[in-house]
Amino acid sequence: MCGIVGYVGWRGAQEVLVNGLRRLEYRGYDSAGVAVADGEGGLEVHRAAGPLDNLVAVLPEEDVSGTTGMGHTRWATHGPPTDRNAHPHRDATGRVAVIHNGIIENFAALRAELEAEGVELASDTDTEVAAHLVAQAYAAAPEAGLTAAVRSVVSRLEGAFTLVFSHADRPGEIVAARRSSPLVVGVGQGEMFVASDVAAFIDHTRDAVELGQDQIVTLTADGAVVTDFHGETAKTRPFHVDWDIEAAEKGGHDFFMLKEIEEQPTALADTLRGHLVDGRVVLDEQRLSDQELRDIDKVFVVACGTAYHAGLLAKYAIEHWCRIPVEVEVASEFRYRDPVLDRSTLVVAISQSGETADTLEAVRHAREQKARVLAICNTNGAQIPRESDAVLYTHAGPEVGVAATKTFTAQVIACYLVGLALAQTFGTKYADEVAREYAELESSAGAVERVLEAVVEPTRSLARDLATSKAVLFLGRHVGFPVALEGALKLKELAYMHAEGFAAGELKHGPIALIEQDLPVVVVMPSPKGRAILHQKLLSNIREIQARGARTIVVAEEGDETVRPFAEHLIEVPAVSTLLQPLVASVPLQVFAAEVARARGYDVDKPRNLAKSVTVE
Ligand code: F6R
Repeated sequence: MCGIVGYVGWRGAQEVLVNGLRRLEYRGYDSAGVAVADGEGGLEVHRAAGPLDNLVAVLPEEDVSGTTGMGHTRWATHGPPTDRNAHPHRDATGRVAVIHNGIIENFAALRAELEAEGVELASDTDTEVAAHLVAQAYAAAPEAGLTAAVRSVVSRLEGAFTLVFSHADRPGEIVAARRSSPLVVGVGQGEMFVASDVAAFIDHTRDAVELGQDQIVTLTADGAVVTDFHGETAKTRPFHVDWDIEAAEKGGHDFFMLKEIEEQPTALADTLRGHLVDGRVVLDEQRLSDQELRDIDKVFVVACGTAYHAGLLAKYAIEHWCRIPVEVEVASEFRYRDPVLDRSTLVVAISQSGETADTLEAVRHAREQKARVLAICNTNGAQIPRESDAVLYTHAGPEVGVAATKTFTAQVIACYLVGLALAQTFGTKYADEVAREYAELESSAGAVERVLEAVVEPTRSLARDLATSKAVLFLGRHVGFPVALEGALKLKELAYMHAEGFAAGELKHGPIALIEQDLPVVVVMPSPKGRAILHQKLLSNIREIQARGARTIVVAEEGDETVRPFAEHLIEVPAVSTLLQPLVASVPLQVFAAEVARARGYDVDKPRNLAKSVTVE
C-alpha cells in the first residue's frame, strides 16, 4: 500500500503534488518523492526517506516551472525504506519516471533479463524494472507514443500494480495503468489528476472517474482517454465526491478504523498474493535451510493482544496440517518462564508493528536459546523481522486506527500460509493438497467481502441498541474461541465496556454465574455441517444462557435454521471452511465494537490510554 498522485494542467505541479501527498500519507510514510517536468525538456526528481516533511526539506523553495508531474508516498515492500528505494524511479537515461503501488511478482525475472542486457539497476525495488522496460519500448517506437509503450510493458507484469509513467519527451502527458490497486482520475477545468484516493485532489475538483481492472489512462490537460490492456476503449464509472476533506481521507467514513475494516478483502488477497510459486509456498525471507526447517519438532507462537489471538488460530492450522505440537503464549509471559527451547524449536513471532517490546524480547530470548525464529509482520524492515531467521509479511498496508482490524485478519491468513509452508517441508501435505488449501485461503477475500456487504448495517443498528449495556460476554468453541476473545478485546479497548471471551465449554465451570437478565451474550457458532458435534454443544450452551434471561446475539452460518429460535439477534455469515470461519465471524464483531464506541461518543481511532506500537514492556 502506497499513495500515488499525478497532475497535468496549468498550476505549478510540485505544490499540487506535495499537497496531494500530505493527504495520502496515511497510505505509507517510509519515503516520499516527486518528479516534475522541468520545462526544459527534462524531469526534475526529488526523493527522501522518512515522512513527507523530509522530502519537503529537500525540495527547491521556488516551484520548478513544470505543470506536469507525479508524487509518491511509500509503504516499503521490496527493499528497505531508503532514499535510493524511494519513488519515483527512472530508467538509465533519466527520461522515464515511474511510481508504483502494489507488488510486481515477476520482477526478479525481469530484473535478471535487464541485467543480462547490461542495464544497471539503481534500487532494490520491484518497481524500477518498469521504468527501464517502458523506456526501451518507447525508444523502439516513439511514434506509437507513451501509452503504447506502457501497454506493451504492463501486459508482461504479474501481480498487483498501479503504475504512473511520465516521459521527458512528452511534457503535458502522464500515463497510468491499474491492476488490483486503487486508481481514480480527478477531472478539473483545464487540469487532470490521478491518485490512489480522491483525498489527493479534492481541493481542486470533486468530479472523479473510477478506473476498472486492467485499464490504462492517458492524461493531458484537456482530458483522459481510458483503454484496456488490449487498447480497446474501456468503460469507467464517473462519480461526484460529496464528502468533506476529512471524510475523504477516510474513504467517506468518520473513522479510519471503519475504512480499515472495509479494506480486509484487499489485505487478505495482498497477503496471499505471490506466495505459491511452482506449487510451493514461499516466505518473503528465509535464512534457514530446508534441513534446519525439517529438524523442527516443536513450535511456539508468541505475540501480544490481537496478534496473540491470531496466534491461537495458527495452532489449529499448524497442528492439523503438520502433526507437530504448537504452544501459543503471550510474549510477556513466554520469556520469563524459562521455556524449553533448542535449535529444533521454531518460534513464530507475530507483530503488525514489528516493534512490540514484549514480542521483540521474546524473539531475542528464543534466539539466545538457539531456537529458530519466523516473524509475521506488517512493517517492512522493522526490528522483529530484522532479528528473525525467516519472515512472512502481511500486506495490510498501514493501519491508522489504534485497534487492529485488517492487520488481524491478515495475520490469521499469514499464519495459515506458514502452516502450509511447514506442511510441505515436513512432507505432511503433498503439492496438490497444498495448492488446494492455498486456493481455499484465496477464497477468504470474497467471503469477507460478502460479510461486509450483508452485515455491516444490521450490526451497527444492533450495536446502537446495546450501547448502554454494562457488560457483554462472548462465547465460542474451537476456532470460534479466539474469535470470542478478539471480539471481547475490541469492545474493551474501543467502548471501555466490560467484556469477556470464554471457551463455551467453560461456561458451567464458573462464568455462567455472570449471566443475568438482559446481559448481552455473543455466541460464535461453528458450522452445523462441518462441526456437527460442536454445533450441538453450543446450541445447548445458548439454551442455558437464554433460560437465564440473557440477550443472545448469535453469529452463525447462513442457512443454519436450528439456531434461529435461540437467537434474539442473528448475524449470518457465509459458509466457509473451518479455518476461514474466524475471518468471516470477526468482521461483524469489529463493526459491533466500533459502533458501540461511536454511540458512546468515543474516538474510535484513538482509544484512551492506548498506543499503536507498544515499545515498552
Ligand atoms: C488491539 C491491538 C493490540 C496489538 C498488540 C500487539 O486492537 O491492536 O492488542 O495487537 O499491541 O501489537 P503488534 O501486532 O504491533 O505487536
